[in-house]
Amino acid sequence: MVDGTKNASINQIKILRTQARAAGNPVLRDGTFDFLVSLAEKKRPRKILEVGVNVGLTGAALLLVCPDSALTGIEISESLSAAAKENYKRFGVDSRAKIFTGDASAIIPVLTGKYDLIFLDGPKGHYYEYLPYLKDALNVGGVLFADDVAFHGYIKGDAPRKHSTIKRSIENYLSAVTRDKDFLTRVYDTEDGFCVSEKLDGSNRGNT
Ligand SMILES: C[S@@+](CC[C@H](N)C(=O)[O-])C[C@H]1O[C@@H](n2cnc3c(N)ncnc32)[C@H](O)[C@@H]1O
Repeated sequence: MVDGTKNASINQIKILRTQARAAGNPVLRDGTFDFLVSLAEKKRPRKILEVGVNVGLTGAALLLVCPDSALTGIEISESLSAAAKENYKRFGVDSRAKIFTGDASAIIPVLTGKYDLIFLDGPKGHYYEYLPYLKDALNVGGVLFADDVAFHGYIKGDAPRKHSTIKRSIENYLSAVTRDKDFLTRVYDTEDGFCVSEKLDGSNRGNT
């Protein structure tokens, strides 16, 4: 795809993201979207996993900027899964995208693929539970990108009781991933916070 067409498609995705958000869909925040798309453009992952696809607009953008990549998505809602498939078609990336419709807690443990970029954006109360499986599923040199790790400021501060499971899961996730010497991890305060962990091989191991 020539750059002009790609840029026009990304601009179109940005418009659709605004509309989706206005309709109540929790699509990725703008600065986080730009960061993730730039990261993918730079790293050119061959295989991408997205946990929590929503209407598929981030996945479509990732496939547009990585023309040799394939994406596997997991989405619990049948209607959102159907909307994502429509969006993949609309941007001509549907042949490189597949979605498992169902609960990530059931699907992640039985995934057999290996990925170069894993975008974790599904149920926040399960991040810690998913971490060992996602680590196994990530190729060396690959990146695990987890969104919402500040969770409305509740991770650094107090959280209402109803969010205590999410707070605990994200705290445990951040603690585990930042201590794990197989990862080089950086946590960003941008928007709702995101965490970028690169899987190291034995020769360049050593977290900062
Ligand atoms: C924050 S949204 C994802 C936004 C999307 N990644 C993007 O970039 O615009 C979270 C999504 O996770 C889905 N989800 C929630 N619980 C899930 C579960 N247990 N398994 C799979 N998907 C789930 C929701 O339906 C929702 O679409």
